[in-house]
Amino acid sequence: MLALRRYSMVALLLAASVPCSLPVGAAPRAVVIDTDPGTDDAIAIVLALQSPELAVRALTVVPGNVTADQGIDNARRIVSLLHRCDVPVAAGAKRPLVVPLVTGSETWHGKNGLGDVQLPEPRCPLDRRWAPDLIIEMVRAAPHQLTLITLGPLTNIALALEKDPGIVPLVERVVMMGGSISGGNVTPAAEFNIYVDPEAAQLVFKAGWPVTMVGLDVCNVTLLTRARLHTLEGRHDPVAEFVYGVGDFLVRAAERHGEAGSRMYDPLAVGVAIDPTLIVASPMVVDVETAGSLTRGETVANRERASNIIEERRSPDGAQYSFTGRTKPLVSNAGVATAVHADRFLDLLLSRIGASPGSLTRNDR
Ligand code: BDR
Ligand code: CA
Repeated sequence: MLALRRYSMVALLLAASVPCSLPVGAAPRAVVIDTDPGTDDAIAIVLALQSPELAVRALTVVPGNVTADQGIDNARRIVSLLHRCDVPVAAGAKRPLVVPLVTGSETWHGKNGLGDVQLPEPRCPLDRRWAPDLIIEMVRAAPHQLTLITLGPLTNIALALEKDPGIVPLVERVVMMGGSISGGNVTPAAEFNIYVDPEAAQLVFKAGWPVTMVGLDVCNVTLLTRARLHTLEGRHDPVAEFVYGVGDFLVRAAERHGEAGSRMYDPLAVGVAIDPTLIVASPMVVDVETAGSLTRGETVANRERASNIIEERRSPDGAQYSFTGRTKPLVSNAGVATAVHADRFLDLLLSRIGASPGSLTRNDR
């Protein structure tokens, strides 16, 4: 009892030291995180689990940066590190819907997907449920309340959609790290998460639920620099040490590429779920190119939210041509992030690393 009270006090003190954007009395946002961990995924998961604004209901694992098996192992090690065995980790797809799996680069993820940082053997078990089933179950258990945060290729989400399209109106929002309307990072046109499974991404954009697309347009300017990383140095907290190790791996890789810092792709998506005011999002109609030999995996955004009405005309000499003089409005299917408060986000991210109220207040199996 005494120990419990002491732990509660510590938790309160730690929680008080973490800037919190949760209004007093407000319930945390329930989220399921679909992830391919992955260096920046790992930092994103830590951010989510250490943020009182979010209640992480599950981690579902998809192949992408690493194979499904490696990703599952990494996810279990991360929740174990944070003493969060109460968060189920579920395995899902083994490969994309149609195309063979392309995994991420060892330059950015290391041999083990965690920047070669070695975490202890996982203590938290693998949940027996299949990830798409777990997503469906979680959505149906909390209708209109659950946000899906997607940090990897969209295979698991598409499989859940195919199995139970009835979840669409029940999902509060999909916050997706993926896509770009200003060029890609794996090809000139395509961002990695969409490129790996374009057919799945297309299903997700077309489903009819609200999507916030946190793409390269904003992630590319959200840089973890060495100066910022130094603020974590020397903290004798295993979680801060882990994030420091992964961050150091990423910053070194970025520096070798002549960049000022490492792009915080997935952490920004979690940041947006914590605080949507971190970005400016514009309504657009987004589709995914699944066929183009140069552009496969590109997110094609219709900023005008209108389509041309094509009319067939004939000129006096009998030649036939198409006339595109009029348009019809289209309903947007995504809020595309076009601007970001990068410094405010990085302040939030670093303030949450190292304080681990979750590990002290929740049960550990
Ligand atoms: C995305 O691809 C992966 O390498 C990262 O984890 C991120 O989700 C960025 O394009
Ligand atoms: Ca990822």
